[in-house]
Amino acid sequence: MKVVHTIEELRDQLRGQLRTAFVPTMGNLHEGHLSLMRLARQQGDPVVASIFVNRLQFGPNEDFDKYPRTLQEDIAKLEERRDVYVLFAPNEQEMYPEPQTYRVQPPTGLGDILEGEFRPGFFEGVSTVVLKLFSCVQPKVAVFGKKDYQQLMIVRSMCRQFQLPVQIYAHETVRETNGLALSSRNRYLNATEYAEAPMLYDTLHEVKNRLLAGEFNREELEYQATKTLNDRGWKVDYVALRKQSNLHIPTQEEIANKEPLVVLAAAKLGQTRLIDNLEIF
Ligand code: PAJ
Repeated sequence: MKVVHTIEELRDQLRGQLRTAFVPTMGNLHEGHLSLMRLARQQGDPVVASIFVNRLQFGPNEDFDKYPRTLQEDIAKLEERRDVYVLFAPNEQEMYPEPQTYRVQPPTGLGDILEGEFRPGFFEGVSTVVLKLFSCVQPKVAVFGKKDYQQLMIVRSMCRQFQLPVQIYAHETVRETNGLALSSRNRYLNATEYAEAPMLYDTLHEVKNRLLAGEFNREELEYQATKTLNDRGWKVDYVALRKQSNLHIPTQEEIANKEPLVVLAAAKLGQTRLIDNLEIF
């Protein structure tokens, strides 16, 4: 694997390549990231991964400074798997040599709901860096995880609307056997919190089971799930039952008519904020 830190080296490595498959990450790689790279390998060649902790998508009180940076371990994992041909690991100066005053603003109704409501500016930061990374790598395909469901949807709609020639593939969320979605932030959890963390996914399943049993009252389903978690000591930002197509609120009729739905949740366990989601139908 070639490790490059500058856009110039990256372009040298990729000159003439027309089928590049790309997996952007912020590093601290786990099995979820590595599975995306395996899928990328099946969809294109060569596979390029990036590791860049993007300041633009972190709020002022978020964990930018303490976000785990483990480049040497990450390189070792990638070397072992052999799916990635070029790792692009730019520093901040390389990605943001001047203040990033041009930004991609995701649309109202998509970028400012759910994660966007609780993390203002988050999807602007994500969209802007993803566009820049696409411009550096010029991939034919790129792979994103369903773990970040809204992010995947925003990246897809950005590509569509800007007519970027990048095909977006989605990978299922990779989980521990107890159901906990793998995340770089899981390492912030202490032992007690780690044991409690799978409850988030369990609660999403509970919503799904109630719905399949004929409970179609969205607000009641969301309320019950929120209460379950809050009663166990979580601080829930949202539990939201939404349409898969656009993340809008489904009507009771749409729920009854088996419109494809997804239940998304974000909640804090101690100091750690976890997100997860589960598709229904
Ligand atoms: P990061 O959180 O490092 O995630 C990189 C990619 O891995 C994303 O597409 C994410 O959805 C996927 N991923 C993370 N955990 C996963 C899991 N358990 N199962 C499947 N896929 C998983 O998402 C970002 O970085 C950044 O916002 C980025 C897109 C790189 C822009 O900075």
